Amino acid sequence: MAFKLLASLLALAAVSNAALIRKATCADGRTTANAACCALFPILDDIQENLFDGGECGEEVHESLRLTFHDAIGFSPALTAQGKFGGGGADGSLITFDEIETPFHANGGIDDIVDVQKPFIARHNITAGDFIQFAGAIGVSNCPGAPQLEFLLGRPEATQASPDLLVPEPFDTVDSILARFGDAGFSPAEVVALLASHTIAAADHVDPSIPGTPFDSTPGVFDSQFFIEVQLRGTLFPGTGGNQGEVESPLAGEIRLQSDSELARDSRTACEWQSFVDNQTKLQNAFKAAMAKLAVVGQDVSQMIDCSDIIPVPKPVTGQAHLPAGLSHNDVEQACATVAFPTLPTDPGPVTSVPPVPPS
Ligand code: HEM
Repeated sequence: MAFKLLASLLALAAVSNAALIRKATCADGRTTANAACCALFPILDDIQENLFDGGECGEEVHESLRLTFHDAIGFSPALTAQGKFGGGGADGSLITFDEIETPFHANGGIDDIVDVQKPFIARHNITAGDFIQFAGAIGVSNCPGAPQLEFLLGRPEATQASPDLLVPEPFDTVDSILARFGDAGFSPAEVVALLASHTIAAADHVDPSIPGTPFDSTPGVFDSQFFIEVQLRGTLFPGTGGNQGEVESPLAGEIRLQSDSELARDSRTACEWQSFVDNQTKLQNAFKAAMAKLAVVGQDVSQMIDCSDIIPVPKPVTGQAHLPAGLSHNDVEQACATVAFPTLPTDPGPVTSVPPVPPS
């Protein structure tokens, strides 16, 4: 009798265990851990085909990643403590209330991707907040070397626009940038990790005479070149010069933000910055963790469903960390006081110019 009871208990345990690990099979045959995530597959296909031109890591991916940040950072417990509305974080307010938020100075140029994403949201059953973070995570997966970002589903519609002045500007001081991120819940190390996004990025509006000018020499690859190249001595302006928030860069065709330059050289952040130079695994893990936090700023995670397994697995990084051709370790402006800059090979050949990111 006791044996029979034990046997059926074991059988029951096996069944419930299988149920726990069994994946849901969706209508099109693809599987995911949670059946509620099945609805995302058609949206994923639409995004890859019609937003990211068949799965590229190009301009729309860069813009969509920037949008994840500008939506999420609209969140300020400090304002709330003063009895004001501090913003809803990653709630889609930048799209839902785009007429209020896109004119904010720090959101310059973001109206492009807002206008491109809006019809996608209109033709699918998804909130703007979920769509922004979903598209950002998918977009990053198109960039070789990136981590597979998390995606949680379930952000309610935004109820109000974010207040102005919560998105950092490239001409802000390090003190003000770290304070702003600190208010939203991010440490200095997490700020540096989030800035890995600038390895797949370009600027259209910092110097409007040279749209599509990248922040590093490999804007289609999620590698550490951004952290290397921002640490090199600035020698030129790629365009007109004298623009607010811009400082000299080391390469023709490459633009450097004042904020990136200063964060790479500030004693609070310099060693973290340098630590990514020759450590792709750390770069991936730190960016993944910081983005997971950014994507749910202001949200009630207990009410959300983990659909991370829907996000495609990115290809491995291409190329090796290197100094650009014609430059050497003498061009490194060492800022980390405790660890020497890693020894890197220099690309062979004469000094090159970085081509712009083409509009698509
Ligand atoms: C100190 C904080 C930051 C500042 C001051 C800053 C500033 C900027 C500026 C001025 C641009 C150029 C916009 C243009 O002219 O088109 C830019 C581009 C970009 N930023 Fe940031 N950013 C910061 C942090 C972040 C974070 C945390 C993310 C994402 C997690 C991010 C993602 C991007 C991306 C992907 C682009 C490229 C957009 C494109 O190529 O169209 N940024 N950022």
